[in-house]
Amino acid sequence: MLRLQDKVAVITGGASGIGRATAKEFIREGAKVVVADINIEGAQQTVSELAELGGTSIAVRVDCASYDSVEALVHQTIDQFGKIDVMFNNAGVENQPSNVLEMSIEEYERTVAINQHGVFYGIKAAGNAMKDTGGVIINTASVYGFIADRKQFPYHASKGAVVMMTKAAALDLAKYNIRVTAIAPGLIDTNIVSEWKENTEVWGQIEKGQMRRRAGKAEEVAKVVAFLASDDASFVNAHVTFVDDGAAAFKR
Ligand SMILES: NC(=O)c1ccc[n+]([C@@H]2O[C@H](COP(=O)([O-])OP(=O)(O)OC[C@H]3O[C@@H](n4cnc5c(N)ncnc54)[C@H](O)[C@@H]3O)[C@@H](O)[C@H]2O)c1
Repeated sequence: MLRLQDKVAVITGGASGIGRATAKEFIREGAKVVVADINIEGAQQTVSELAELGGTSIAVRVDCASYDSVEALVHQTIDQFGKIDVMFNNAGVENQPSNVLEMSIEEYERTVAINQHGVFYGIKAAGNAMKDTGGVIINTASVYGFIADRKQFPYHASKGAVVMMTKAAALDLAKYNIRVTAIAPGLIDTNIVSEWKENTEVWGQIEKGQMRRRAGKAEEVAKVVAFLASDDASFVNAHVTFVDDGAAAFKR
């Protein structure tokens, strides 16, 4: 028996990186997947790759910074598949690096709107749709929800909030048999870090700073998300799982 057989899962940020890899893992585990992203072409590309694996999926455009858009995504999922079992609130952006004193209000608000408010919108919209059936909500936080780096103030603010929103939502949703958990990835080789990768020297230094001197792969995160989404994790709740090769555990 596959671990997500006949489950319906929504993945935001499904057009690339961790979201796309998780969509593939969910399909391998038997789920039907709604691939949601602001980048609809990327989401459609994910759906074609899922079709090659023999899976059932649809692409939906969503802007996670808008509650109406996230609620419409959940409604579209139910129209198409009749239910929602798993919501992976994963879409996210980096802020343009800047000292907090020079950080523009617009950049702060843009980052928080997607990374933090977007997760709240996903919890609210999907949680309401799961009230009678139970379900699982997984949020993407970051090691940067726990440890700080320079010039990333809005990213830290938003990912720290995701950690606490996960715990608070788990408590509120427990009576509906909805588990709420989060992942905290470390350095993962995806588009979000592509600017760092452009400079091979910088990227080399960043990789050397990791415990085993390499970035993680999106697939290594996807495996953990599939576990958290499945009944194998039936007693895992309100918890943040680090997928960082220990990056948050030591001083550089
Ligand atoms: N890659 C890392 O090193 C790393 C580390 C820690 C946490 N994360 C988190 O993992 C999550 C996934 O990122 P990734 O590494 O796969 O990067 P990615 O850039 O490949 O994926 C992010 C996706 O989010 C989408 N997105 C951006 N704004 C959106 C919006 N308003 N509405 C809907 N979708 C939107 C993008 O189009 C993109 O497809 C993010 O929340 C990110 O903060 C990544």
